[in-house]
Amino acid sequence: MITIKNFRSVQGTIETITIPSAKQQTIDAQGKLTLIPALIDPHVHFRVPGADHKEDWKTGARAAIAGGVTTVFDMPNNTPPCFNKENLLAKKRLIDQQLAEVKIPLRYHLYFGADKNNLNEIGKVKNEIIGIKVFMGSSTGNLLMDDDAALERAFQLGAQENLIVAVHAEDEVIIQKNKQKFAGQLDPAIHSKIRDRKAAIKATKKALELAEKYSAQVFILHVSTKEEIDLIRDAKRNAILAYCEVSPNHLFLNEKDYAKWGNRVQVNPPLRTEKDQEALWEAIHDRTVDMIGSDHAPHTIAEKNKHYGESPSGIPGVETTLPLLLNAYHEKKITIERIIELTRENIETIFRLDPISDVVLVDLESVKTIEDKFLQTKCGWSPYAGRKLKGWPVYTILQGEIFNIEPHTHAYATL
Ligand code: DOR
Ligand code: ZN
Repeated sequence: MITIKNFRSVQGTIETITIPSAKQQTIDAQGKLTLIPALIDPHVHFRVPGADHKEDWKTGARAAIAGGVTTVFDMPNNTPPCFNKENLLAKKRLIDQQLAEVKIPLRYHLYFGADKNNLNEIGKVKNEIIGIKVFMGSSTGNLLMDDDAALERAFQLGAQENLIVAVHAEDEVIIQKNKQKFAGQLDPAIHSKIRDRKAAIKATKKALELAEKYSAQVFILHVSTKEEIDLIRDAKRNAILAYCEVSPNHLFLNEKDYAKWGNRVQVNPPLRTEKDQEALWEAIHDRTVDMIGSDHAPHTIAEKNKHYGESPSGIPGVETTLPLLLNAYHEKKITIERIIELTRENIETIFRLDPISDVVLVDLESVKTIEDKFLQTKCGWSPYAGRKLKGWPVYTILQGEIFNIEPHTHAYATL
């Protein structure tokens, strides 16, 4: 049993709790550390199989723990894609081996990729997956649903099998037209013009219409524009089974960041305007947003250093979500209660997960600057490097094991 004594509750009282564990251990939080539920990150790309030079589950799990995350939902755009039963089972075996090697019992669920030629596989794996992932626009990997009939079928199957259909909502036709229009332009800021807001809005509208048509549960991933937020808000009012996620990338970065970070902040959907950021925060307050997912999408610095057009899209983030949000709390942008809803409670409810007792002890007063060298992700960089943030995790408790995140180096040790 783990005893955590003298911790501060979110309401400010000093409390003691016990957590089931094979070990007998006590943490004295000395009235200084605040206890919150460990985070669920509903959107990571841990790159196994096929791209483990960018990340694997050994480094990914360490990064998750360092960020107070004890459950991740991993995306299927692997090589080979996770879009049939055989690949799904092989992927699980690799993950379990890697987690066993580093002795981190990270909790995970896997998304299953929808592909027009593999839709018949969904019925075979429905009890082993967290949901169906549909790429309406092309991104990293080869998963792309550019066939309208197959897209309809995916929603139909989602409804039939009671599986959430998670969509990367960007319209491929618009993206391809814009690619031709802006061909040869190397300024990374062109990315937001190629994958313009119309592409995202059109796809989100279509996904919401399909959810209505088939009474399916649709989950719009990484919403980036004000117009999509408005569409989702209306859909919810009209009792469409619509959920949505925002990623820290779109909350904490905008188009102006290309000037400093270039292709490192190239991400799909791309960075938008400050007005869009305001709309996302507003939607966090009015509860249109259901969850925050990092969309942890690591690529190496060498890959990101290629010129625009060759460089891959994606930003790492599993270990920076919580400090960014705690810092936003100090800036009065969000309450701790809302952080907990968006990073744990709503996700458990929407995905009907079994309750868990994982927690994080955070030091709300600790101030640290993010530095690449502190990061656990294999890719070893972050566009948040240089940001001085107030509020950091200190202990992550996962399945009855305590991980102590060392306060200065951000490395951690098992107690
Ligand atoms: O920017 C992105 N990177 N968006 C995606 O949809 C995929 C991700 C990746 O896997 O690199
Ligand atoms: Zn993603």
